[in-house]
Amino acid sequence: MKLWGGRFTKETNQLVHNFNASISFDQKFYRQDIRGSIAHVTMLAKQGILTDEEKDIIINGLNGILSDIDNGSLEISSTSEDIHSFIEQTLIERVGDAGKKLHTGRSRNDQVALDMKLYTRDEITEIDSLVKDLLNTILRVMKENTETFMPGFTHLQKAQPTTVAHHFGAYFEMFKRDRQRLSDIYDRMNYCPLGSGALAGTTYPLDRELTASLLDFTGPTLNSMDSVSDRDYLIELLSALSTIMMHLSRFSEEIIIWNSNEYRFIELDDSYSTGSSIMPQKKNPDIAELVRGKTGRVYGALTSLLTTMKGIPLAYNKDMQEDKELTFDAIDTVKGCLSLFTGMIDTMKFNNEVMQSSAKNGFTNATDAADYLVNHGVPFRDAHGIVGQLVLFCIDKNISLDDMTLEEYKAISPVFEEDIYEAISLKTCVEKRVTIGAPGKEAMDKVIAINEEYLANN
Ligand code: ARG
Repeated sequence: MKLWGGRFTKETNQLVHNFNASISFDQKFYRQDIRGSIAHVTMLAKQGILTDEEKDIIINGLNGILSDIDNGSLEISSTSEDIHSFIEQTLIERVGDAGKKLHTGRSRNDQVALDMKLYTRDEITEIDSLVKDLLNTILRVMKENTETFMPGFTHLQKAQPTTVAHHFGAYFEMFKRDRQRLSDIYDRMNYCPLGSGALAGTTYPLDRELTASLLDFTGPTLNSMDSVSDRDYLIELLSALSTIMMHLSRFSEEIIIWNSNEYRFIELDDSYSTGSSIMPQKKNPDIAELVRGKTGRVYGALTSLLTTMKGIPLAYNKDMQEDKELTFDAIDTVKGCLSLFTGMIDTMKFNNEVMQSSAKNGFTNATDAADYLVNHGVPFRDAHGIVGQLVLFCIDKNISLDDMTLEEYKAISPVFEEDIYEAISLKTCVEKRVTIGAPGKEAMDKVIAINEEYLANN
């Protein structure tokens, strides 16, 4: 039996029911639905719209349904259209007439808007804590690797020397911004739509401030038409989730490159790698590849919801039911990717020697050799040309700048002295870069301290 069966003279066609129903996915927020109903009924009684006795019967009934679904003794039946109908029908079956008053002064339009917000709020909190776990792992790696030298790249060509701490520090900043975005979205969406009715409020003397505060909202929403048709917060969330995935995907791409046979900068732990069914030598970075791959799925959800919303007139239209599956999928995908990615980073090993010699052999200290000449009075443009000749010489002999003899240096420019070796050592190159944000240990230690304090307070 449908909640709205009164006006109809025929049963719904089964295919129509199946197409229209959302119970297969909106059962995900039965807890939030019950929480919202309890707040609603509490407010109705306070306003004298229900008696205290009716309120108690309804709340006891709802709590019973909650624990029975939780413990598996009550199965959510697919014959109901949606989770709202299922809970209301079950309540009426269990407590009789009082249950029929639950929906007073409420529509499924404001109810579903509320449920989705409550669900989203809970999920934002969970995702935030997973991003925080990742940040803690990144910070641990940073602390341990302020002097683990590696090449920094532009155009995927070795550019200047840096450290693992500095490279990971870049991701720390990205994921820190991701948390800030989540928190902004939470604050902006945290207004309660309940009491907006179908679209034009209700004639009952509802206390919307009370409902809002019972449900930990900042306050009630201020326009009932907007309340039931606003999905901006989901679009913002999907955008923030897409950005998290974009960051995870870039990081994954680097892990895949670093883990390749050619680079061997890192080694993924056996517990976070997979093998090949035919090639016995293989140890594949499947987790990183899957994270990179699943990014498309989350972007898809964002594009999909933006497209769904673009032509919808005010106020509620059934198109909006489409927000759920894709948002749930995006949330679950991001949560899964975050926890696996953190585990993978936490267990991988750095091949310090390989990274260091890669930095050395890639002329990442060429800029520092030019700076050496500049410090000895050579104009930068000339210095650039001289070092270009050094590099050519080295490429020809297949050696690094550090391997050239002083005579060879002097043959190209008499300005070079014994202290050139010290000036272009990886350690010096990195250590001299001490402006805030740079990889030098002094600067890095400051940033690590700032990040540590951020994690302690946020
Ligand atoms: N399942 C619906 C949704 O997710 C609930 C709202 C139904 N409202 C309506 N007027 N049919 O959007």
